[in-house]
Amino acid sequence: MYREEILKKYEPSLDNILYILHDLQDNNPQHYISKEDIEVCANFLNIPYSYVHGVVTFYSMFSLKPRGRYIIRLCESPPCHLMGSESLLEYLKKKLNVKIGETTKDGMFTLELTSCLGICGVAPAMMINDEMVGNLTPERIDAILEERRQTS
Ligand code: FES
Repeated sequence: MYREEILKKYEPSLDNILYILHDLQDNNPQHYISKEDIEVCANFLNIPYSYVHGVVTFYSMFSLKPRGRYIIRLCESPPCHLMGSESLLEYLKKKLNVKIGETTKDGMFTLELTSCLGICGVAPAMMINDEMVGNLTPERIDAILEERRQTS
């Protein structure tokens, strides 16, 4: 059971709650924190379920809703905006047939926005799961999505 493997890596200290939650979310194929994840975390740290739930809802990087296998986070900060991220957002919405925060019907991609990723020199930029991608164009986006579809 992958949750037990994850917990083995940590001391049962409240200082580790964010690391544990990140790890649980990253290892969930649907990239979210399930009720079971919250329970497991609360039991491990010996704290109330409601405390863990409160932490999950406080931080926008955690999701209580199942998401796609790949989370696309398009940067919406000014340097990327100036370099055309808004039209790329429209492109992605149309291509994936989703709105911001939604997941494609096949469960592959979730579209989200983020603030600066720290790679403004190659704006416009996005992250797909843990990978940063810059110099985005519609063609580059097509290639990235196609590659992910083929490797899944
Ligand atoms: S503004 Fe987009 S990466 Fe910095």
